[in-house]
Amino acid sequence: MTEATKKRILTGITTSGIPHLGNYVGAIRPAIQSVQNNDDDAFFFLADLHALIKCQDADAVHASTKAITATWLACGLDPERVTFYRQSDVVEIPELAWVLNCNCAKGLMNRAHAYKAQVDINTATPDTDPDFGISMGLFSYPVLMAADILMFNATHVPVGKDQIQHIEMARDIAGTFNFKYSKENPMFVLPEAMVDEDTPLLTGLDGRKMSKSYGNTIPLFGDDPQVDGEKALKKAIARIVTNSQLPEEPKNPDESTIFEIYKAFATPAELEQMRQRFATGIGWGEAKDILFDKINGEIAPFRERYNHLMANPKEMEEILQMGAEKARRESRKRMEKVRKAVGIKPLAKLKK
Ligand code: TRP
Repeated sequence: MTEATKKRILTGITTSGIPHLGNYVGAIRPAIQSVQNNDDDAFFFLADLHALIKCQDADAVHASTKAITATWLACGLDPERVTFYRQSDVVEIPELAWVLNCNCAKGLMNRAHAYKAQVDINTATPDTDPDFGISMGLFSYPVLMAADILMFNATHVPVGKDQIQHIEMARDIAGTFNFKYSKENPMFVLPEAMVDEDTPLLTGLDGRKMSKSYGNTIPLFGDDPQVDGEKALKKAIARIVTNSQLPEEPKNPDESTIFEIYKAFATPAELEQMRQRFATGIGWGEAKDILFDKINGEIAPFRERYNHLMANPKEMEEILQMGAEKARRESRKRMEKVRKAVGIKPLAKLKK
């Protein structure tokens, strides 16, 4: 492939929350494997400016940025191979977001799912303003996301289904800009969403989808630095809700959270074996032990590196600064072109 047609993958991770097992199997593991298995150009970044929309607790945003950085590096992200940076370090991103805001119809943003969902809740609540609790950040969230993507002319954006609309909006915004300002030589590439149907959606402790908002997650490396991560994992698995069937009773694996999570870690042969054990009778305690060993076997080496990084934030800061420098080599140039295209440029050249 030539440079011009090479795939460029870009994705952002919002820094609100501490990574859990669902994030690991649904996003972290597949993203790192995909980078290891092909030579696509890859940009991964910590979306800390996006985090401010959901989370206005300064300590929580900072702690999350630290834990997410440590998690991705510990799980094998190679910062030499991937451009890995913090969104807020690339100061051209919010600048581009402003230019795009000025060229994006408000009506387009009115249709954004996240915003509409909040308006619907407010409308259904008596005596409540339709815009109650909605910040300008939430309203223009897709524009900032478009700036993230268009800044680097990403061709492919791996996202969950809930984000597809945002990628479509980024295409829309890119098209409008190209049409208005850069017809001959389009400024922006129209990005495509990449949705992987095979990545597992994990079930949480209570049987619903594993999600921070349900408080039913299994922490990946533990979310309390005072508590040993392995013990925290064991404790969380012990809390998985099961029914009251006795050990010798045959059990339906397809109704079991333990089996569901095991599936995301086991080989096909191991899975088949577990299916048989369910059919012939297995105690819930034993099933949980097997699940714990399987998960721990995969993540224990990563946990060691995670603990090391968490204790040595300087190492991570250096990596992020290096990533920001790499990213800014492009973003400075792109922003210079954008400024010129919209009419923001020096009145005359000054002799030095
Ligand atoms: N909004 C995305 C999410 O919540 C995170 C994100 C921010 C992102 N900017 C992005 C994802 C750019 C892909 C590309 O999951």
